[in-house]
Amino acid sequence: MCDNIRRPDSMERITTEAQAKAFIDEQVAACRAQIGDGKVLLALSGGVDSSVVAALLIKAVGKQLTCIHVNHGLMRKGESEQVLEVFREELGANLIYVDATDRFLDKLAGVADPEKKRHIIGEEFIDVFAEEARKLDGVGFLGQGTIWPDILESEAGIKAHHNAGGLPEDIASRFALVEPVRILFKDEVRVVGRALGLPANMVDRQPFPGPGLGVRCVGAITRDRLEAVRESDAILREEFAKAGLEGKVWQYFTVVPDFKSTGIRNGKRTFDWPCIIRAINTTDVMEVTVEHLPAEMLDRLAARITSEVPGINRVLFDYTPKPPATVEYE
Ligand code: XMP
Repeated sequence: MCDNIRRPDSMERITTEAQAKAFIDEQVAACRAQIGDGKVLLALSGGVDSSVVAALLIKAVGKQLTCIHVNHGLMRKGESEQVLEVFREELGANLIYVDATDRFLDKLAGVADPEKKRHIIGEEFIDVFAEEARKLDGVGFLGQGTIWPDILESEAGIKAHHNAGGLPEDIASRFALVEPVRILFKDEVRVVGRALGLPANMVDRQPFPGPGLGVRCVGAITRDRLEAVRESDAILREEFAKAGLEGKVWQYFTVVPDFKSTGIRNGKRTFDWPCIIRAINTTDVMEVTVEHLPAEMLDRLAARITSEVPGINRVLFDYTPKPPATVEYE
């Protein structure tokens, strides 16, 4: 356990590849010293922090690391596939892939209350991870993508930082934590990720909430509307990349609410969902401003989303800053 490791006040911000490489060498040595010939487990979501921890631990202890990737069915298009490609194929990680889509969506069926949805997703995630962890013998360490703001927020009483990610006691008590990016700020984690050779789109990813697309499929999730969120999000990301805006706008995504409106296609009436585009900028997510997209880009998005995504007949743009709106819809 390295709960007492703190960022030294004198530590320079890591901005260059050389600094990142020095940090990587230090952490590889520290992880080897801590883990010895033991085994370590890591929940690998594909987010920046867990991906960087995975790459560092692969470098440090190779096959002594087992990663578990739980696909809750609420991932963005192509995300789980990329985790498998990068970590299993390219980096040769021991990676257990659990497709728990049906399990999550069955539990979420008919649940419209946002807080209940979040609770179900969080609990189910822990259950699936704990079930997989119980199947493994002799694992004494748990890798975690804790970063320095998590520690500061937890100390300031803003956000609970769960040791061992809220795992049940019988599992949590087996593990000592390994937190190799604990003293880094987010921008430094990205620099380290690049120096470790992780793909740019993984390292520069926009923030993605734990409950995933579940909070963007407003109300009770249905598989068809969830697919509409996933497909429209993929088109939005593609258009941002084409416009050179990837990594330049804090967060952009689509939301599909659970109401329908009348439209017309090929001379026939349609009754389909709208798709809402949200694009925001911020420094601290306490207050956010709207990113104004070029008119031609909005025209193209409306045309593509209504023609390529089944069930969508209308595209709207959300012009609301935070406050009064929050970033996510639930
Ligand atoms: P809100 O909607 O609170 O979002 O204005 C602020 C930022 O937090 C992200 N967010 C979450 N991230 N789990 C997460 O890991 C969550 O449950 C969650 N809810 C919101 C949101 O995407 C935005 O960046």
